[in-house]
Amino acid sequence: MDELDKLTVPRLRKMKAGGEKITMITAYDYPSALLADRAGIDVLLVGDSLGMVVLGYPNPVQVTVNDIVHHTRPVTRAAKRALVVADMPFMSYHVSREQAVSNAARLIQEGGADAVKLEGGKGVAPTVKELVDVGIPVQAHIGLMPQRASVGGAFKVQGKTAETAQAILEDALALDEAGAFSVVLEFVTAEAAQLITELVEMPTIGIGSGPGCDGQVLILHDVLGVYDQAPPFARPYADLNKVVTDAFTRYRDDVRSMVYPGEEHTVHMDTGEAKKLKRKRP
Ligand code: KIV
Repeated sequence: MDELDKLTVPRLRKMKAGGEKITMITAYDYPSALLADRAGIDVLLVGDSLGMVVLGYPNPVQVTVNDIVHHTRPVTRAAKRALVVADMPFMSYHVSREQAVSNAARLIQEGGADAVKLEGGKGVAPTVKELVDVGIPVQAHIGLMPQRASVGGAFKVQGKTAETAQAILEDALALDEAGAFSVVLEFVTAEAAQLITELVEMPTIGIGSGPGCDGQVLILHDVLGVYDQAPPFARPYADLNKVVTDAFTRYRDDVRSMVYPGEEHTVHMDTGEAKKLKRKRP
């Protein structure tokens, strides 16, 4: 495959088979998607983390299908190579299978996404199958599920005991069987994530789930060091918080002290025209 060819679901499976690690990051707009795509990230996720890192909500539950469609459009316009996955928001696939299909179809048709992602284990496997049967590729998401954790749950590590790890494994097997093309394992113990990775056909993408997964995903703002509530498993690769605050502060100071705009940023009239203008002064 050419480095620049559009990444496909079958190609992700081949990467797993060949032991090639898959990279995934969230993106919510054109410039960040363009940079991530150019950097060779394999999968761009328009995640419902959008609610917290872009829209300022306390959790993802207020994010709507319209929000995801709106933010998926610029990401798909930017992604020349990366596969674009759009998240199905809270309650957008629980009411009925018909509701799930029509909302997923909107993310594909209106947003231009290549695939959708939804949270849930065994219980959502029939919905996953329904979507796959109508031709919509689905990425599953188990372990810590932020939509559920936000409504009466807790943000804590999953699969600490053999019994809870077994339950996550059973979820993964059911989703694999239902035809999910990949699964996100969030905040799962490394031992459980490794075992799941060995036992399922679909590639596993870990977030806070150790190095044994087939790939890794992180939230863009955590990678760039913008979001000040990053989880403990995220690694910042830049300190944009500092860089951007510093740039804004210097801009403010330059305007106040009249250092900006300088002569190089200023356009003038011809001297003759300027003199005529002065004469016109009342
Ligand atoms: O919404 C999101 O960004 C996600 C990632 C945490 C995988 O689901």
